[in-house]
Amino acid sequence: MLKDFEKHCQSTHLSSICTKLVDLSTLAFSVNNGNIPKWESAIIDIERNKPGTVSFKHPYISIDTNIKSDEVTQSLKKLMPWRKGPYQIGDLNLDSEWRGDMKWDRLKDSIKPLQGKTVLDVGSGNGYFTYLMAMQGAEIAIGVEPFLLFNYQFQAIRTLISNPPNAYVLPLKLEKVPQESLFDTVFSMGVLYHQKDHMLHLQQLKDVMQDGGELILETLIINQKHGDQIILEDRYARMRNVWCLPSTDTLHLWLEQAGFKNIKLIDVTKTTPEEQRATHWIGDNTQSIKDFLDPNDENLTIEGLPAPKRAIFICQK
Ligand SMILES: C[S@@+](CC[C@H](N)C(=O)[O-])C[C@H]1O[C@@H](n2cnc3c(N)ncnc32)[C@H](O)[C@@H]1O
Repeated sequence: MLKDFEKHCQSTHLSSICTKLVDLSTLAFSVNNGNIPKWESAIIDIERNKPGTVSFKHPYISIDTNIKSDEVTQSLKKLMPWRKGPYQIGDLNLDSEWRGDMKWDRLKDSIKPLQGKTVLDVGSGNGYFTYLMAMQGAEIAIGVEPFLLFNYQFQAIRTLISNPPNAYVLPLKLEKVPQESLFDTVFSMGVLYHQKDHMLHLQQLKDVMQDGGELILETLIINQKHGDQIILEDRYARMRNVWCLPSTDTLHLWLEQAGFKNIKLIDVTKTTPEEQRATHWIGDNTQSIKDFLDPNDENLTIEGLPAPKRAIFICQK
């Protein structure tokens, strides 16, 4: 995959950073992680199947093949939990924890067309959205995702596609992407609240964007009645690594302070059990949003904080 990536990347206006991205990715894949043999054996098993053509058949990224579900289910289950999707592979429904299509529907008509663009998808998970970006005609869509399992999930799906879209997922944090102003469109979805320093994240996003480039920022927010922001001291909806929940006004201000222009709030949506729920594809820990909310008040998390609500902002550098 990295060879394909490098060749393709060199043919775009990202050519000055391709070799660096490949070197850093090779290093990241060579860490000592006891799960890698299992994940690699899953990919080898999956490679035995005949790949098929890919398209978006709402809500699925769908691969049209004769593969029967029992031929790939065991290998794909070695790569659980499948958080992002859903995917359809032949007659197999890979029903992920999240209905990614619902987020995509909220933003797809508000962004500048991706046709011919260089796109960065920060915190791409297994690349569900990165694939959709490429399928919109992006010249190249690069997902960066430090969690190695999700990189293997991306590769598993790619292995099943006969003529893969211009999408790649690399095992990197945004911090590792060379700070050159190259990308036309940058997505940061579900990532800001995981950052200890939110202003640094916004600055790093801006640094990799071309002048006039577009940022799509999606993150957890709170209603203004709860204040300007909540700084988390402990867990939020059972998640350990959530640092800060701003109101939409506060987030607008942060974007302004980071130097973004034409800042528009395009959506605020409460996360529902329709969008996030336990499925057979998330493995042994079958808890999902309904287990993270107060059983007596769906407006509160189990910790008594406002229940998850997400905003999408679009702005320009
Ligand atoms: C909640 S998931 C969101 C996935 C997807 N973007 C979405 O909107 O559904 C956040 C992902 O961001 C990744 N992540 C966290 N910090 C990151 C960073 N500094 N650079 C790149 N990815 C990061 C995590 O590993 C995780 O997979």
